[in-house]
Amino acid sequence: MKILLLGKNGQVGWELQRSLAPLGELVALDRTGDASHRLCGDLQNLDGLHATVHALRPDVIVNAAAHTAVDKAQSEPELARRLNTEAPAALAEAAQAVGAWLVHYSTDYVFDGSGSTPWAEDAPTGPLNVYGQTKLEGEQAIAAACPRHLILRTSWVYAARGGNFARTMLRLAAEREVLTVIDDQWGAPTGAELIADVTAHAIRQLTHRPQDAGTYHLSAAGETSWHGYAGFVLDSARALRPALALKTRTIEAVASSAFPTPARRPGNSRLDTRRLQTVFGVHLPDWQRGVSRMLAEIL
Ligand SMILES: NC(=O)c1ccc[n+]([C@@H]2O[C@H](COP(=O)([O-])OP(=O)(O)OC[C@H]3O[C@@H](n4cnc5c(N)ncnc54)[C@H](OP(=O)(O)O)[C@@H]3O)[C@@H](O)[C@H]2O)c1
Repeated sequence: MKILLLGKNGQVGWELQRSLAPLGELVALDRTGDASHRLCGDLQNLDGLHATVHALRPDVIVNAAAHTAVDKAQSEPELARRLNTEAPAALAEAAQAVGAWLVHYSTDYVFDGSGSTPWAEDAPTGPLNVYGQTKLEGEQAIAAACPRHLILRTSWVYAARGGNFARTMLRLAAEREVLTVIDDQWGAPTGAELIADVTAHAIRQLTHRPQDAGTYHLSAAGETSWHGYAGFVLDSARALRPALALKTRTIEAVASSAFPTPARRPGNSRLDTRRLQTVFGVHLPDWQRGVSRMLAEIL
């Protein structure tokens, strides 16, 4: 099997380099591409993406690249649309032309965040911001152009590599006695490792069960708020490394309105993952398990 991976250095892309390697020949690109083989990995360059897919003729394209800066997307909607809608559309057309599968990631931000029930795949969408709107349009473009697709909607992604919420909380906890964290957005922190491992498993299954194509929700089990997440991070850090000098004694819970941001965010980001678990026979562990593992790695 030949796999083309785009966005190889993002949180999910980095872990995909590991999890996809055993499946076959992996060509992994970041936005700079591979000039020596005239391969383009830049989502802004739609002609380049077409040419790359036609030159490589992969069996599977995995797109882990995206415009993920949610607040910035509000002030650069054209760039967000290019990366999150037009590039996935171009990849879907190219995939269809060469008979490849397209695997793509989307987000809980396609929903309006109302209520407290986990969102099922067919629940009505209603994005609150440019990022969510452009990701939703990307999903729709893929579904229209390439029936052999797998779209995995995920939430609150973290990885040991690079910056993340846990790292920010640990840094602030070393400086401040009181932290203030949002308590009215609920979801499940989901590790890039888990996403990458489930992706590899799903690709294997799709090669002999093409009827399982479609959109699925993929997040760790359980739920928390950012406030609960922060509390877990600090408690776990203290238990793991008692010598850590963390000053924070209190984590105050506040509403999102205490931290105004350019992009509105959904209050309810809970995803119902039963369809994925049933169709692909995977078990999704509690969010605390992956976060504990990440903390053990970074501390
Ligand atoms: N992060 C989350 O909380 C979250 C939640 C739900 C869904 N998702 C979805 O999950 C997927 C993976 O997200 P992630 O967290 O791994 O994101 P990430 O760490 O921000 O990685 C995104 C990657 O896209 C690359 N990229 C940006 N512009 C590009 C361009 N013009 N051409 C090629 N590559 C470009 C970035 O490259 P540079 O490093 O060079 O900028 C980066 O490597 C995305 O589809 C995202 O929408 C993420």
